[in-house]
Amino acid sequence: MSALTILADLVHRRSGLVLGPDKLYLMEARLGGLMRREAIPDLASLAHRLQTERNEALEQDVVEAMATHETLFFRDQKPFEHLRNTGLPTLLRNRGPGARLRMWSAAASTGQEAYSIAMMIAESGLIERHRVEIVGTDLARGPIARARAGLYTQYEVQRGLSVHNLLEHFTRQGEEWQINRPIRSMCSFREWNLLDDIAPLGKFDVVFCRNVLFYFDVPTKAKVLAAIRRQMAPDGLLYLGSAETTMGLDDALERDGPSHALHANAPRAATGHKHSTLPPRTPTYQS
Ligand SMILES: C[S@@+](CC[C@H](N)C(=O)[O-])C[C@H]1O[C@@H](n2cnc3c(N)ncnc32)[C@H](O)[C@@H]1O
Repeated sequence: MSALTILADLVHRRSGLVLGPDKLYLMEARLGGLMRREAIPDLASLAHRLQTERNEALEQDVVEAMATHETLFFRDQKPFEHLRNTGLPTLLRNRGPGARLRMWSAAASTGQEAYSIAMMIAESGLIERHRVEIVGTDLARGPIARARAGLYTQYEVQRGLSVHNLLEHFTRQGEEWQINRPIRSMCSFREWNLLDDIAPLGKFDVVFCRNVLFYFDVPTKAKVLAAIRRQMAPDGLLYLGSAETTMGLDDALERDGPSHALHANAPRAATGHKHSTLPPRTPTYQS
C-alpha cells in the first residue's frame, strides 16, 4: 500500500472524510507543519509510523490537518435569512411564550457559523438571548479552541460580517477582534466527531450541518443524517450546505416547499400516509 493510501484510509476511518485523488496532492502541503514538528522526513515515514505505532494523538493530528476548516460569517446568507424570517417565528409559534431553543452548529470549525446564528437572533428581537443555547461541535481541537476564544483576525471579520455587526458585537483586542460576551455567552463549543454517538449532545430545535457531508461517502452521509435526525425535535429545522442534498440518503428528511427547508421525522416514509396525525416533520433548509 502506498503512503498516500495509508493516510487516506486513516483519515476516512477516523473522520469519514474521503480524500479523492484530487485531494491527495494536498497531503504534502497540509501535513508539512506536523511532519516538521515531529521531525518526520516524508510521507512514507509518517505512514510507516502510523502503521507501526498505536499513536492516537498522531492519528488525530493527521485527520485535523487533512480536514478543510474553511468557514466565514453568515456563509451563504440564505439559511440565516430563512431561520430569521420563517424558521424561528414558526418554532416560537409552536412552542409558545417562554420557549427555550437549542441549536447546533454540527461542524462548527472556528465558530463563525454559531456566532452568526447568535448575532442574528440577538438582532432579531424575536426571543431573548438567554432562552437560546447554541452548541458548536467539531472533531478538530485547534478550531474548537479558537471558536471558544471568539478571537478573529482582521481578514476573518472582513468575510461576511457587516460593519454594523462588527462594531456592535466585537471589540478590538490588539491585532484581532473578539466577539463580545453577550453573544459569546449564547454559544458553547465541544470537540465531537460526527461518527461517534451524538445522543449525549441532547435534542436540538435547529441544526446547521453545512459543508461537511459533501466530504463523506454515501453510507457515511446517510448514517450521519439519520443520527442527526434522531436528535431533532419533531418540528425542528435542519440546514445543509448549498452543495449538499439528502436526496437518496434519507427519505425521512423532506423539503419544506419552495423554500427548500426540509423536514425530518417524516411519518410518511414509515407509514405510507401522506397526512397523518404523527408529529410534524423537521424542516431541513438547503440554499
Ligand atoms: C468546511 S468546514 C465547515 C464549517 C461551517 N459548517 C461552514 O459551513 O462554514 C468543515 C468542518 O467539518 C469538520 N469535520 C470533518 N469531519 C468531521 C467529523 N467526522 N465530525 C465532526 N466534524 C468534522 C472539520 O474539522 C471542519 O472544521
